Amino acid sequence: MSDTLTITDNRTGKTYEVPITHDTIKALDLRKIKVKDDDFGLMTYDPGFMNTASTKSTITYIDGDLGILEYRGYPIADLAEKSNFLEVAYLIMYGSLPTKDQYDKWAHEITHHTFLHENIKQIMHAFRYDAHPMGMFISIVAALSTFYPEASQIDDPASRHKQIIRLIAKVPTIAAFSYRHSRGLPYVYPDNDLSYTGNFLSMLDKMTQDKYTPKPALERALDVLFILHADHEQNCGTAAMRVIGSSQPDPYSAVAGAAGALYGPLHGGANEQVLRMLMEIGSLSNVPDFIKRVKNRETLLYGFGHRVYKNYDPRARIIKQTADEVFEVTGRNPLLDIALELERIALEDDFFVSRKLYPNVDFYSGIIYQAMGFPVAMFPVLFAIPRTVGWLSQWVELLADPDQKIARPRQIYLGGRGLDYVPMDQR
Ligand code: ACO
Repeated sequence: MSDTLTITDNRTGKTYEVPITHDTIKALDLRKIKVKDDDFGLMTYDPGFMNTASTKSTITYIDGDLGILEYRGYPIADLAEKSNFLEVAYLIMYGSLPTKDQYDKWAHEITHHTFLHENIKQIMHAFRYDAHPMGMFISIVAALSTFYPEASQIDDPASRHKQIIRLIAKVPTIAAFSYRHSRGLPYVYPDNDLSYTGNFLSMLDKMTQDKYTPKPALERALDVLFILHADHEQNCGTAAMRVIGSSQPDPYSAVAGAAGALYGPLHGGANEQVLRMLMEIGSLSNVPDFIKRVKNRETLLYGFGHRVYKNYDPRARIIKQTADEVFEVTGRNPLLDIALELERIALEDDFFVSRKLYPNVDFYSGIIYQAMGFPVAMFPVLFAIPRTVGWLSQWVELLADPDQKIARPRQIYLGGRGLDYVPMDQR
């Protein structure tokens, strides 16, 4: 037995042997398969990267069939139960759990980089009163590159570290400012005495009180949600981060692009769509009719289905528990009953069962965020804050990987060739 693949090209009768490593063949090894010497060589056609590994990685492990998610080898449920977001952020960035000293230094650095340049407020003011907070978030993250021009020195480890700290520290401040702008409220500056999520809640909610004290259950719930969203290997947003990063711009520009990819309703915008869908359904009695519409392909059941998970998303299970803890403080969100009924019917219905469509992370996260008082438009922003850690970790891995090159897929050109230009008055 050998770790190779033997391919016979029936166009020519020639046989080729291609090495197999990690159950993968190199796409470039197919290029030697040609009919004529001057042919380009065989390519693979894979829209949406359904079966293409774009990188080797040691950050996040997913087994979609078994519903397993691990960061750096640690099961997500253990991290959600025993760790906190900043510790998980360190784990994802550096590959191992921090010692006490490492954790203290990391937490101190992030806590002391949360402020934004005052000019950012002027950029915020330029947005319309009803600007979508995700549009503001993406713009401000991109704008940060102009405040830190040294960020373009991506080969300098010290500069890279500085930008990583700045980004992780400042994204909650940007998110909170976007929220306060949309409410017409004054911006609240960061409070270094509070935790990462406690400070975020303070920047969102603080009014006239001298000192804001976050409700521990909500602070912890947000921390758990941030842990669950911190990384998810090569999803659409992360792939965008790597594609942009491969042309070697500063990390602010790359994170802004990744956040743009996250914004879409098929990805991080799905939790917003879930809430809109639940509000549209409105009552338990309308659930069967809605399921019928999904099966007639008139609409999607948002929050269901996943490219990788063909089983219950492990994050959805943890979020369901977190929901109960939040509702004890906030009162039960009436949309939860509609969601539970949708889940119950869908998990019994052959349309969903045969397609292995299960609730994903977004199915319940929106219900919690709404109960906590977040407007629906803030949901993708709440996803982007913790995912910034995953993006940066994947970016660092990309920069250190000698296999990586500028991302530049091929195409199968099917259009016309060498046409004669026809002047406009003769067309
Ligand atoms: N509602 C109804 N039908 C669905 C759904 C859904 N939510 N998701 C998939 N299907 C159907 C498809 O129509 C398809 O049916 P067919 O084979 O009869 O044509 C089958 O299930 C397979 O689905 P695909 O679209 O091929 O799966 P893909 O991997 O391309 O898409 C995706 C995955 C985009 C997540 C999809 O399930 C979807 O659109 N879900 C709703 C949006 C959503 O919740 N996104 C959040 C994902 S999690 C995240 O990004 C954090």
